[in-house]
Amino acid sequence: MTENAFDVVVVGSCMTDLVSQAPRLPKAGETIHGHKFFIGFGGKGANQCIQAAKLGAKTAMVCKVGKDFFGESYIQNFKDNGVHTEFVGQASDAATGAASIIVNDAGENAIVIVAGANMLLGSADLQDALPAVRHAKVLVCQLEISPEASLQALRMARQNNVRTVFNPAPALPDLDQGFYAVSDVFCCNESEAELLTGTQVGAVEDACRAAKEFLRRGCGSVIVTLGALGCVVLQAKDPAWHHVPAPTVKAVDTTGAGDSFIGALTFYMARYPTMPLEEMARRANQVAAASVQAVGTQMSYPVLKDLPAELF
Ligand SMILES: Nc1ncnc2c1ncn2[C@@H]1O[C@H](COP(=O)(O)OP(=O)(O)OP(=O)(O)O)[C@@H](O)[C@H]1O
Ligand SMILES: *[C@@H]1O[C@H](CO)[C@@H](O)[C@H](O)[C@H]1NC(C)=O
Repeated sequence: MTENAFDVVVVGSCMTDLVSQAPRLPKAGETIHGHKFFIGFGGKGANQCIQAAKLGAKTAMVCKVGKDFFGESYIQNFKDNGVHTEFVGQASDAATGAASIIVNDAGENAIVIVAGANMLLGSADLQDALPAVRHAKVLVCQLEISPEASLQALRMARQNNVRTVFNPAPALPDLDQGFYAVSDVFCCNESEAELLTGTQVGAVEDACRAAKEFLRRGCGSVIVTLGALGCVVLQAKDPAWHHVPAPTVKAVDTTGAGDSFIGALTFYMARYPTMPLEEMARRANQVAAASVQAVGTQMSYPVLKDLPAELF
């Protein structure tokens, strides 16, 4: 089953989003009535995998869910999107990761995340997935599973000459310095760049300065995403830096835009390995800009046929 090489292998998280909309956020001990409830598929790893799959990449997800209703439905969600699920484990001693989200009428939210089964993805699971990792074109990790597991997965990829993308999200103030040296592409947003460098990142020049610092720490290349401003791209082998603007669009919901960008980036790295990184970033901006024009996270991610032919 795993002999055929995957374009993109994601080692990361799955979360079920339980979203309630209410006039306001409840106080301690209070029960209030909301007006809408929905369940969504989330988790940074899964989001990135789904976006790559929606563009046509052959993908496999390496993750852990619970032996529960949400775990079963997440596996079905992967299958519905064509993601290979042989390496989706089910823990009997932890629940599927969940985010309970309350959104008030002003658009503010209060969120409780329980990582659950995501934290049980460990060394033995990664060893089991080695046949898939070894033949992948690109491997991508984030920080919603244990950092040790992410680092091990990136090292496994490196040992097998698989291109690596690391998204240090959510950012850890004391990130293991070993992550930089194993990242072919280190891709983060402004707040993560700020936390990891300890300097303010508010615009293109700041993002460039942060990116240079990440190159100095050992990454092959760096992309810092800047929301509506697009991103900056720097490479160790190229003294020039590039600001790659995003198209101007009417944003209705930017949730998961960063994951759409990374999913698209991994698709281009796998399918067009010789394309300049700034061109991949230009195209990934267009994919992510399409995602902000629809509501929801994975639901808002564009599929191949929704996008201009020039992107493929
Ligand atoms: N308003 C926007 N207009 C056009 N493109 C956008 C907009 N917001 C985001 N994007 C696209 O999405 C990419 C990622 O956005 P951003 O830098 O906000 O990531 P993020 O903070 O990780 O996202 P989020 O946390 O909302 O998922 C940008 O580089 C850009 O390509
Ligand atoms: C960056 O991503 C994190 C999630 O890792 C998110 O909480 C934060 O709001 C994002 N920052 C910006 C500036 O979009």
